[in-house]
Amino acid sequence: FPCDVIRNFSIIAHIDHGKSTLADRLLELTGTIQKKLSGKNEQVLDKLKVERERGITVKAQTASMIHKFEDRKFLLNLIDTPGHVDFAWEVSRSLAACQGALLLVDASQGVQAQSISVFHNARERGIKIIPVLNKIDLPAAQPDRIAAQIQATFGLDPSEILQISAKTGKGVEAVLEAIIQRVPPPVARADSPLKAFLFDSMYDKYRGVISLVSVQGGVLRKGDKIASCYTRKKYEITELGILHPEEVPTTSLNPGQVGYIACNMKQSSEAHIGDTLHRVGEVVEPMAGFQPAKAMVFAGVYPIENSEFPKLEESINRLTLTDRSVTVQRESSTALGQGCRLGFLGTLHMDVFRQRLEDEHDANVIITAPTVPYKIIYKDKEVIISNPTDFPDVGDLGIRVREIQEPVVKASIIVPEEYFGDMMELCYSHRAEEVEHRYLDSGTSSARIMLNCIIPLSEIVTDFFDQLKSRSSGFASFDYEDAGYRKSDLAKMTFLLNGKPVDALALIVHRSAQETVGRQWVKKLHKVIPRQLFEVPIQAAVGKKVIARETLKAMRADVTAGLYGGHYERKMKHLENQKEGKRRMKKMGTVELPQEAFFEILSNK
Ligand code: GTP
Repeated sequence: FPCDVIRNFSIIAHIDHGKSTLADRLLELTGTIQKKLSGKNEQVLDKLKVERERGITVKAQTASMIHKFEDRKFLLNLIDTPGHVDFAWEVSRSLAACQGALLLVDASQGVQAQSISVFHNARERGIKIIPVLNKIDLPAAQPDRIAAQIQATFGLDPSEILQISAKTGKGVEAVLEAIIQRVPPPVARADSPLKAFLFDSMYDKYRGVISLVSVQGGVLRKGDKIASCYTRKKYEITELGILHPEEVPTTSLNPGQVGYIACNMKQSSEAHIGDTLHRVGEVVEPMAGFQPAKAMVFAGVYPIENSEFPKLEESINRLTLTDRSVTVQRESSTALGQGCRLGFLGTLHMDVFRQRLEDEHDANVIITAPTVPYKIIYKDKEVIISNPTDFPDVGDLGIRVREIQEPVVKASIIVPEEYFGDMMELCYSHRAEEVEHRYLDSGTSSARIMLNCIIPLSEIVTDFFDQLKSRSSGFASFDYEDAGYRKSDLAKMTFLLNGKPVDALALIVHRSAQETVGRQWVKKLHKVIPRQLFEVPIQAAVGKKVIARETLKAMRADVTAGLYGGHYERKMKHLENQKEGKRRMKKMGTVELPQEAFFEILSNK
């Protein structure tokens, strides 16, 4: 396949707008996969079990197809991209290997928050964008209105918009034609030095790391000696081919093509996403790489049984081979034992990882409530911490610590006008700043509004998304991007049982929320701590100041139960003894928080 018959494209869309369904139709129409007689949507590209269960695409998958158009055979390389905000980074790197993108918009829902972010991502890369309205078979579809919206929001010409139903296949043929006619072929020459852009990798038990590359110049052949611009390591290509959609070995990958290579790379960390591979002995200018994904949500992962830790750690390490955006660090706590502190791109990412641990590795784990990374600016250094126990004490502020900062994001919410007030309230109750809004389509009966604001990340890792959905009856869509760090009035909240701090139980709380959170947590503790023989005060404190308190009543074991009437004096004596015992216990009493209580309170479920 010479360059001029190659088209590299991806499908970008808001979650659930039908990417995987369209990908399946394209694969069927080009004969790459068999059409299912049952007519059931199988979604071939969603390989992982979690993806099937949740109906979301987690890891980008690539497939090549061959399509005949005007008597010429074209090689169409589809790079599937994930749809959730947590995985924006994968979208970005998939787009770097494309010259075109199908911007898919649900004709019943219209432009949503992620439609906008993926559009900008593609636009910034100078990629040809083909707008496609999907789900026109739905009775609720409003193709004309949504077409006008696409024009108003993206400045795209309505005559360029294709109307399809990925479900029934209507109009999908025209999508293939548009890809061939509108997406420019890749520019790459066979006689230039070899240059291959590494945009994804996976791990195979037998062959080691399999990398996905897009050949930007030269020809890649089996037996070629190649080197990485990033690590300077050298390899020999043992196998290469295209994904059709399963791996099909070929003798070479030509300029402009996208395919997989195996080259005895042993460790996933060697396959650096965004790396440029070149022939040993040749010099090339490396292509602009990527900012590596930054972990923004951290949580401790512990085995339910302490003895299971080695097995759990092994499973975590194996899983991170296929998901490199997860960071791993060992941690231990006296209460929970040995565990790992993992960093994720977002909470959905965290959930998906947990589910993969359970499904693919049969692991039984507890994941602690998520926290975000905080920046502590000391007089002489800056430190980013991912565990609340490392947070400085209130007393250090202004003395050793100059300032505390927390990560913030730029959030956008798109919502029908009638929910606007609720959304504003939601944002303000989550410490939003710089709130602004504009109408997406004015003048229509149910106009929609886009609301932008800066909001602390810690506010959205908890229940923000659920509340957004419930308060808007599911109509609001939401997206966010990293917006750096901002100074914040935060403090560490600790908990005291019977006046003694509970090890490993600390929260980072904003001053404005101290009382609510403190009260919530002492209530929670009150529920899970078993009663003791003496009264136990449960307190939440910031520094030395107690913010909230509950009292756990003493357990009343009736010591006189076995004594029958008439023995009044004996009865009194017993009660006296018991009282004295309690007094003594209270004086020195330490309350052990049982591990189950810990799990219950820290667990994220
Ligand atoms: P993510 O991978 O999670 O981003 O989702 P997606 O964009 O790949 O969406 P997917 O293909 O999973 O489709 C979402 C839902 O919409 C599924 O239930 C599909 O069956 C349905 N769907 C997709 N295309 C059409 C269509 O043209 N018409 C109708 N009626 N339903 C469709």
